[in-house]
Amino acid sequence: MRKKVIAGNWKMNKTLAEAVQFVEDTKNRIPANDQVEAVVCAPFLFLPALVEKAKGTDLHIAAQNMHFEASGAFTGEVSPGMLKDAGVTYVVLGHSERRAYFAETDETVNKKTHAAFNVGLTPIVCVGETLEQRENNETMDHVEAQVKRAIAGLSDEQVKQVIIAYEPIWAIGTGKTATSEQANEVCTHIRKVVKANVSEAVADSVRIQYGGSVKPANVKELLLRSDIDGALVGGASLEADSFLQLVEAGV
Ligand code: G3P
Repeated sequence: MRKKVIAGNWKMNKTLAEAVQFVEDTKNRIPANDQVEAVVCAPFLFLPALVEKAKGTDLHIAAQNMHFEASGAFTGEVSPGMLKDAGVTYVVLGHSERRAYFAETDETVNKKTHAAFNVGLTPIVCVGETLEQRENNETMDHVEAQVKRAIAGLSDEQVKQVIIAYEPIWAIGTGKTATSEQANEVCTHIRKVVKANVSEAVADSVRIQYGGSVKPANVKELLLRSDIDGALVGGASLEADSFLQLVEAGV
């Protein structure tokens, strides 16, 4: 059985005090079992404080991005090793906002995915189509290409550990959730792509999240689907109670 992963992506929100309070309010209320994993993806500046606050609990702390190089002249960037050093355990890579506003490409996502494994971080790799691509029936081809490029060159064991987040861009922050059927259809396709390019065993183990206007009211239905193993949640992850409801839905 694949362990569900519920990850809250705060994006560029919260003050440090609010972030620390959130962890204080949630860290001891995460169900400790083998069915669900709870992750909070926070802005860089908050990471050391949140890692410290969440220590010894079942709440995991993630970064929302990183550079792929180990060090060097990259003003304003944060390296994989810096995240590892801060005690972070997961990193979101290739979010559609980074692809759209910060020139992230399949190639940089692939380099970052390798770099994450080099330091022992678990990558949450985001893929997903635009509304135009969906309307032109290009969803499957587009997502397939993104997945293939993201995992290129990884060992089977590494692919098994990647968390793939399917986030249709038209569903992000819009209140328009993909129906659970639409979401599952693409997640099933992603699993097939992993099967064809890696192996059936890896495809059976790899975890695939859905993201895009997930909230407590619709998360259960999504998680009941055969190929959806979790959720990557923006807006509805900002409040502690709402986040906890999402996590509990994974149990
Ligand atoms: O990474 C999560 C995300 O992009 C979805 O955001 O606000 O639609 O849940 P939201």
